Order: sequence, then structure tokens, then C-alpha cells
Amino acid sequence: MKKIWWHDKVAYQIYPKSFCDSNGDGIGDLPGIISRLDALKELGIDLLWLSPIYVSPLADQGYDIADYYAIDPRFGTMEDMDRLIAEGKKRGIGIIMDLVVNHCSDEHEWFKKACEDPDGRYGKFFYIKKIENGKLPTNWRSYFGGPVWEKLPGHDDLVYLHVFHKKQPDLNWENPELREEIYKMINWWLDKGLAGFRIDAIINIKKALPFVDYPADRDDGLSKIDNMLHEAHGIGDFLGEMRDRCFAPHNAFTVGEVFNEKEEDIPDFIGVENGYFSSMYDFNETIFGHSDDGWAGAKDCLPEDYKACVFATQKKVGFNGFISNIIENHDEPRGVSRYIPEGEATDAAKKLLATEYFLLRGLPWIYQGQELGMENCPVSDISEVDDISALNEYKVALAAGKTKAEALHLVGKYSRDNARTPYQWDASANAGFTTGKPWLPVNPNYKWINRKAQAQDPDSVLSYYKKLVQLRKDPAYADALIEGGLIPYLPERKNVMAYFRKGESQTILVLGNFQKDPQDVELPAPVKNLLLSNLPEVVLEGGTARLQGYQILVAEL
Ligand code: GLC
Ligand code: CA
Repeated sequence: MKKIWWHDKVAYQIYPKSFCDSNGDGIGDLPGIISRLDALKELGIDLLWLSPIYVSPLADQGYDIADYYAIDPRFGTMEDMDRLIAEGKKRGIGIIMDLVVNHCSDEHEWFKKACEDPDGRYGKFFYIKKIENGKLPTNWRSYFGGPVWEKLPGHDDLVYLHVFHKKQPDLNWENPELREEIYKMINWWLDKGLAGFRIDAIINIKKALPFVDYPADRDDGLSKIDNMLHEAHGIGDFLGEMRDRCFAPHNAFTVGEVFNEKEEDIPDFIGVENGYFSSMYDFNETIFGHSDDGWAGAKDCLPEDYKACVFATQKKVGFNGFISNIIENHDEPRGVSRYIPEGEATDAAKKLLATEYFLLRGLPWIYQGQELGMENCPVSDISEVDDISALNEYKVALAAGKTKAEALHLVGKYSRDNARTPYQWDASANAGFTTGKPWLPVNPNYKWINRKAQAQDPDSVLSYYKKLVQLRKDPAYADALIEGGLIPYLPERKNVMAYFRKGESQTILVLGNFQKDPQDVELPAPVKNLLLSNLPEVVLEGGTARLQGYQILVAEL
């Protein structure tokens, strides 16, 4: 396989609103991020994705952009952004922005002009339809609940399409004039020196035409967006054009937020030679257990499920691309709370989970706070919740007959706020995130889970992540750990999650006991070199690894 510049990198996601506040207004900002670049460098980060910081009403926390060419004053200025790019460069850290182009904000000037003149140039940037006989154009349900259609302000007979929130009108990618505007904007940013983009919700840009109803899947008579997307073909024309016009000429790194891709799509999407994107996320385990009935119907992802999901993706992708591996992001609960069975998220278990996903074939991503083992945040009342998706799911659960306590329990488990609570820098007030009042409450466990304490402790989760990053980057093991393939070992063994990374000249075994009770596991070959373990004592006897609960080891065979 061809060597690619970013394959040996380690990537990190920042949720700017919650990372570091420099001016005491309770909101994280760009100067705050700049002040922490050395901490990221120390961890070994090379690529840094920032969730959106463009001008936005923050209805969906910045995923509703009102001006693609300006930084929201709450996050800083364009000078701050230029400084971040320059300071990043100095440290060998490439900055990646979020590209949100399925929709913009209803406060974007394009949308305002569309409202003024729905038949004019900007009206055609959106999907605006007539209400016929009092009926909405289709029965699609938006991702955040309710119909996808909303009255166009100032026009009683017209509605516009929004597959997310009503403050996020969808852009009409069928219109070449819209596409030109988007490409111009992307190139403007890349010319500034960005390393690339994370590409938001991109699978939604192609709608099935003409618009028709799909079978209703809940009592509300509506049909989930997936049913429409399933019938939408030809997205590749848009994605290929965007690659050719923007990403390829800049040799930019791109990672797509792509769900439900089919095996045959992998080469087109992330093929090494000419994929639409450099990489895309593996969401197989993220979506595991989701239900059409909302959070009330969701199933837990147990260790065996996690293993099956991850290995399925690895098999599907093979050498056809380089997938991006995560255990959490700003849309998910904390990985240690989701994938480690309840009550068992000890430091050992957190380190096991870290090792399992980090050494998979692909690009490892760390979401802010994950390197500290940050956990889900308890909620005691729905009024404490900010996430629009969680607020909707709470209503859906109540409507399905759940009690308030049960619905709140689900919110605590799945809310996106879990990942969005402020970063826990130290044990001082507000975890050192702000000197003011944080926009979202800090997780009360910051007194013992925080960066300062962990930086001083060689056995902390943070110190372990540093070792993992070093191992992943050690040129001596690049043959196996970067470019090598992945072969599961004993995939049928319950709560053993083990795999080989096989390069041309070396084989590395990752062997984990994904449960609290000890387990003996036979070794496939003698261990040449023990590279890492999450527990101080490693017992290898007569071809057997005697693994403690949640013990994992990485060894060269
Ligand atoms: C993506 C983002 C999410 C946002 C949605 C709409 O899924 O990650 O945070 O709500 O797109 O832009
Ligand atoms: Ca601030």
C-alpha cells in the first residue's frame, strides 16, 4: 500500500465551547485552545479537529452556521484563528475545521434572502415547497424530532426542508450555484493553511428525488430520514466534484461523518488512490443497539457486541482504506461509560478499552477528556440539559409511556451533554476550565478525574494514553501498527478481545480480557517482546497468559 503522510498521525477532537475559557465568560475559546497547545503536543497530537467556531446562533452548538467566513465572537476573532493555525504549525499540529454544508443557519444571509424572494437566486439554495391542500410535501421526521418541514417566514403557503433542527435549513446541492459558493468557501479556508476538514452529516446532501412519502414508523405518522436516504443515489457526483475542486488540489486531510456505508462503497469513499475523503469514522459500535423507538428501545453494547462491531468494520475496510477509530465524540456519551459494563469502569478497564481501539488498523482519534477517562455526567432534572437531541428524546420517551425518572435515566445514559461538560484541568473551582460560570455544569468527579493530578501520576489514565501514543508512533513497530493488517485472534472466546497486527516483517498481538474476572488465554506463539500492559504484573506461563480482570497486553511475537 502507498505510504500516506497522515497514516502515522494521532488525531484529537476539541469541542471548543468546553475546552478552555480564557476570559471568564464561561465559554471555551480560541485563545484558551492556543494556551493548551503544548499540553496537546506533549500527548503526541498531530491533527486537531475543532467542532464549529463560525458565527452561529448556537441552536445546535455551532452546527448551525450563519457566516462561514467569520469566527463567532464568543470563540474569538479571525486573528485568533490565524494565530492558532500558525502556533499549531510551529508544533507540527495541523488544524482541521468542521465543514457543515448539508445545512446552514436560518440566520445566514442566504436564508434571509430566500425568505425575501423564494423564487430568486437564494430561494434556490434551499428546498422550498408549497403546502398543497394543507398537507406537508412529505412525511419525513427530522433527526431532532417532528416533521422536516417548517413554514418559511413571511409566506403562509410555503415550507422549507430541514432534516435536523428547524434552525438548520438544508442546502440544495442539486443547484450548481450553491455548490460553487461552497467550494469557494472551502478553498478560502484551505488557502489559509488549514490541514483539512471533518465533514459533517455529509451523507444527507443527496436527497431522493422526487420527494415522496415513506412508510410511517411511529405513531406520529412520520418516517425516519434513513428511509429516504436509502433511496437517494448518486451522492458520489457531489463528493467527487468537491474532492477535485477543493481537497485534492490542496492535498488536504478530510474525514467524513458517514453512517451505514456498504462494503462496496469503501473504495469510492476512502480508497487510497482517489477516495472522496481521506478517511471516515467507524460508527458501527456507536450505532449498535439503536432503536426506531428512540432511546427507550436502545440496547447496551456489551464487550462481545463491541468486539463484533469493531471486527466487522476492520474486515469490511481491510486494505481498501484507512478508517478513523473513536470511542466517543461530541455526539455520544463517554466511551468508558458506554462500552464498559456499568459499575466496572476502573482505571484498568479504561486503559483496556483505550488499547483495544487505539491499536486497530486506522487513524486513532482522542476526544477531549477521553485521555483522562472522563465519564458520563449525572443529571437530576431535565432543566439541566442543553442538548436539543436529548430534550427531544426525553419527550419521545415520556410519550412512549416512560415515567419521568425513567426518561431522565435514559437522558443520563445517552445525552450528548455527557461529552460536552467542561474539560477537567485541575481540582480548583470549575475544574480550572473557567474563572466564571461554566455554560454547562462541570462533572462533579473533577476533584479526582483531572489533568493536573493525572499528569503527576505515572499510573494514571493520561500517562497510559501517552504510552499508547508513543507505541503507535514508534518507527520500530510502524510495519505492523501503521501499515499492517488486522486479524482477530480467538474471536469466539467470550470477553476476550484479541487481534494480531501483521506487517511484512513483524507480528504484534493485542490480547485483552474484557471482563472483571481473571481469564487464562493460550498464546498463539512465544512472546518475543512485551510492549505494553495496563497492569504492573504480567504472568505468562507455559504458553498461557494468565490475565487479571480487565488486563490487556501488547506483545511482539
Ligand atoms: C452532526 C454533528 C452533530 C450535529 C449534526 C447536525 O451529526 O456531529 O453535532 O448536531 O451533524 O449538524
Ligand atoms: Ca471565553
